[in-house]
Amino acid sequence: MKIAIIGGGPAGLYSAILLKKQRPDAEITVYERNRADDTFGFGVVFSDATLDNFEKYDPPSYRRITQEFAYWDDIAVHFRGTVHRVGGNGFCGCSRRGLLLILQERARELGVTLIFEADIEDEGRFADADLVVIADGINSRFRDKYIAHFQPEVDLRSNMFAWMGSTRPLDAFTFIFQETEWGPFIAHAYQYEAGRSTWIFETDPETFKRAGITGLNEKQSAERMAEIFGWFLEGHPILTNRSMWRNFPMIRSKRWVKDNMVLLGDAKATAHFSIGSGTKLAMEDAIALADAMQRAPTVAAALEQYEQGRREEVEKTQHAADVSLVWFEHVDRFWNFDPVQFAFGVMTRAKAITYDNLTLRAPDFVREVDQAFARQVRAKGFDVDVEKPSAPMFQPLRLREMTLVNRAVVSPMCMYSAREGVPGDFHLVHYGSRTLGGAGLIFTEMTCVGRDARITPGCTGLWNDEQQAAWRRIVDFVHANSAAKICLQLGHAGRKGATKLMWDGMDRPLEEGGWDIISASPIPYFPDSQVPREMDRAAMDRVKAEFVAAAERGEACGFDMLELHCAHGYLLASFISPLTNQRTDAYGGSLEGRLRYPLEIFDGLRSAWPSHKPMSVRISATDWADGGITGDDAVKIARAFAEAGVDLVDVSTGQTVHDSQPVYGRMFQTPFSDQVRNEARVATMCVGNITTSDQVNTILAAGRADLVALGRPHLVDPGFALKAAAWYAAEGVFCPPQYLPGKEQIFRNSERERQEFEELKIKAKPKTRAELKAEATKPLAAE
Ligand SMILES: Cc1cc2nc3c(=O)[nH]c(=O)nc-3n(C[C@H](O)[C@H](O)[C@H](O)COP(=O)(O)OP(=O)(O)OC[C@H]3O[C@@H](n4cnc5c(N)ncnc54)[C@H](O)[C@@H]3O)c2cc1C
Ligand SMILES: Cc1cc2nc3c(=O)[nH]c(=O)nc-3n(C[C@H](O)[C@H](O)[C@H](O)COP(=O)(O)O)c2cc1C
Repeated sequence: MKIAIIGGGPAGLYSAILLKKQRPDAEITVYERNRADDTFGFGVVFSDATLDNFEKYDPPSYRRITQEFAYWDDIAVHFRGTVHRVGGNGFCGCSRRGLLLILQERARELGVTLIFEADIEDEGRFADADLVVIADGINSRFRDKYIAHFQPEVDLRSNMFAWMGSTRPLDAFTFIFQETEWGPFIAHAYQYEAGRSTWIFETDPETFKRAGITGLNEKQSAERMAEIFGWFLEGHPILTNRSMWRNFPMIRSKRWVKDNMVLLGDAKATAHFSIGSGTKLAMEDAIALADAMQRAPTVAAALEQYEQGRREEVEKTQHAADVSLVWFEHVDRFWNFDPVQFAFGVMTRAKAITYDNLTLRAPDFVREVDQAFARQVRAKGFDVDVEKPSAPMFQPLRLREMTLVNRAVVSPMCMYSAREGVPGDFHLVHYGSRTLGGAGLIFTEMTCVGRDARITPGCTGLWNDEQQAAWRRIVDFVHANSAAKICLQLGHAGRKGATKLMWDGMDRPLEEGGWDIISASPIPYFPDSQVPREMDRAAMDRVKAEFVAAAERGEACGFDMLELHCAHGYLLASFISPLTNQRTDAYGGSLEGRLRYPLEIFDGLRSAWPSHKPMSVRISATDWADGGITGDDAVKIARAFAEAGVDLVDVSTGQTVHDSQPVYGRMFQTPFSDQVRNEARVATMCVGNITTSDQVNTILAAGRADLVALGRPHLVDPGFALKAAAWYAAEGVFCPPQYLPGKEQIFRNSERERQEFEELKIKAKPKTRAELKAEATKPLAAE
């Protein structure tokens, strides 16, 4: 077998090593355009898990790599004169040059031919090769040559960064967030060998411009960094090696394989440097390719297996990198945060690290985070314990004169079980049992303001006395039996009206018994859905009056709070999104025009709703569709409602058009809540695939939302909040007296279970290489 590898970086060299081990008879050649020791960059970083992989696949190179490694366990966050350190991270660094020299040596030893100063322009010279590995890096010539086939998508990010080095020793992965006269600068720094550390400097484009870096050469820009971070460098210089300032390109390729050619490493996909995964991804690609070549009967089958098997893992890493890079791009959102909350945000930015996980590793740090959170709550006039505070989920919140005893919320969920809009026994038991389960706030399902405002024949309404009496019974139950508050969500289905019950076909038009529907514009939801009538002024006035009348009935029922549903493609959302609003009058066009009618309704409700009671609005913060609402629009929408007097923005997403492309995942809508809360400076509630109390606390403690709603988890577990309270030993949680023996038992058991769980977790956790190294070098105690 003949294998040609274009590019002698980590991907090219490691694939040469693994393939040669597998097929000693194969003729494998690596072509590298640079000289053997002519490499750029400073250090590379691997996690312990990645090193475990290297150990398994090629022990000799693993041993040589790890002999030269610098190890550290801590992440240190420097911000506004403070430093917060968190241990237990298990990272290692080595020099990129050292890594490549080790890989070159190992490849040669195995019989791989390495040809340097060979700049390959045309792969035609490898016509006789069975496999051509394209590992030519981020600016891959061959990916671009076959651009129509590989279909790379290059997202050039806005922040500027430069890779530099220093002699400053470091004992932790160090983030420094530095305020300057021009704006914030960030340093990501770590040691990779004795007396050498990598320094990646990053800043936003405006700060970059203001700091005048555009006009500086490499040496001058290094000097500027040395001035900015001089207080930390303690006289150590900043070093350069082709350290040009650039924008990071996030690259994703639709295809990785063409005939017998396969893309590896940066050529195929990149991951932002803030999660330190570029070299790791490149080498793990080589592992995946070697695995596939081992298993599959032919090269073609192996390449197919490589692409299919590897894609998910790469996309997951890229997603984590995306989330992380967005955090760094918007660091100014958090600049006014308490430093410990800021540090918590840095630690938890990419989802893998959470509140519970940090409690295990750095209990003092989490205690400090809790205390800072409690101090903020106390500043709002609550008499909460600041020394030994409850977890954020169990801290109270006040909206106008409504006080919530905790921040766990039952999200609005249609039960499709009403008759003529009247909630029945099912609803009483449904809302009642969630109320008894300890949540601080319960939302009603979308309750419709008129018969023809319903989504389905099973939706609840509030347009007549019978419905009012039925809701009153539910509200009274909540108030009589719990500390929870209950919020009425009012809505109008718009073009998604006259559709089937969820279990008969979500959003599908009714075949019989339907009614005429209205919307901002006459565009059906599905091509075969009913075409809605475009609302004229008379219809707008009628619907507004219906909303106001329903709100008045809501007040008569005793609801504590009112939410206006402006999300999910229903009537008011259909005005806001440009995908569903094509009006040419004052209610269409610009975002201002599209918001006009929803704001008119909101104003009508705000006037009718008692001024001491809060109001929220639910929005779709993105349509997940080209040309639709984006996170930046959501900030403007939130600001407009905040100016109109909204107390909380309930940040959901999507469901505007049937062919949207949501990116699901854990807590997938939380970044939008984060953006709205910290850019529009308005309280938010987040929701969406949040399933554990650990996630709830992570979100709250990091300042990404003020309340957290859970929908589906509450469907199967009405006692979600009470159980979470037991886990966090939040004694103050409300429990109905009838259930107190159960509360006492679960609190008792949880304390023991939590202790056992933590001990198990600590025992099961393998020692990090940093810990092992520290143990090995520890002087023996005198006997
Ligand atoms: C300037 C720079 C500095 C970096 N510094 C760091 C750092 O300090 N720490 C870190 O973790 N990551 C760093 N990275 C990122 C990291 O190196 C990559 O994520 C990782 O190296 C990807 O490995 P790769 O093998 O896919 O590509 P690369 O390491 O880029 O290797 C590709 C190789 O292909 C060669 N090549 C390209 N075209 C041809 C051709 N036509 N013919 C022959 N050879 C060709 C290149 O010379 C290069 O050696 C740096 C990247 C760059 C560009
Ligand atoms: C059965 C069901 C009914 C729903 N009905 C409503 C509703 O009436 N109003 C609303 O705003 N959202 C509604 N939603 C959306 C939820 O409030 C929530 O935003 C969504 O389920 C994501 O949260 P989760 O992952 O915690 O379930 C509904 C969701 C489900 C599962």
